[in-house]
Amino acid sequence: MSAVRIAPSLLSADWARLPEAVAACEAGGADWIHLDVMDGLFVPNLTFGAKMIETVRGLTALPLDVHLMVVQPEKYFDSFARAGATGMTIHVEAAPHLDRQLNRIKELGCAAGAVVNPGTPVEAVREVAGVLDLLLIMSVNPGFGGQEFIPYAVDKIARARALMRETGSRALLEVDGGINRQTIASCWQAGADTFVAGNAIFSAADPAHEIRALRERCGVPV
Ligand code: DX5
Ligand code: ZN
Repeated sequence: MSAVRIAPSLLSADWARLPEAVAACEAGGADWIHLDVMDGLFVPNLTFGAKMIETVRGLTALPLDVHLMVVQPEKYFDSFARAGATGMTIHVEAAPHLDRQLNRIKELGCAAGAVVNPGTPVEAVREVAGVLDLLLIMSVNPGFGGQEFIPYAVDKIARARALMRETGSRALLEVDGGINRQTIASCWQAGADTFVAGNAIFSAADPAHEIRALRERCGVPV
């Protein structure tokens, strides 16, 4: 696996052509598939649950990176693990018992991630840094694809990388929201290693090519 991980979000794909969208991800060399679960409570939008995860699991062997934008995320851990999630990432704003919730995800055999909204300091994960397999920095307010990248997220990525260095955390550092050819390089240089992109990939004429183009923008040989 290359140092730069690209995780296309199927949120912006044409769900009537899901097999083609997943095939394009594979053809473009995507590392993971990102699945955005929204409950209409934590965020103002509704998407899908275990059935969709199971469907995508049936289409690919790629890791499924499931982003839970929901209240009470623990209600879904068992069914999402059974459906084939590889990792589950929960919002610290919706997880008052973060240590317990992350450890439960691990017990189910999945990678455990924590995610912070743009307005939440990275310090919110300092105490659990050693438990994390993934730290996700939101670079938009979650809820919708196709939003504009929030520029101050770049500094936050750098602070997240510093926090991980200080705590000895081996978690991957992911960024999600508004990632495209213009924004990806600054996030990579700031210390992110895993990049979610929805609109940039699925509004492109050739999604597979766009995945390769995003990776190239980071300037590391693949
Ligand atoms: C936003 C989701 C993202 C979204 C990214 O709430 O968490 O994963 O699909 O989409 P783009 O890349 O279009 O900002
Ligand atoms: Zn997401």
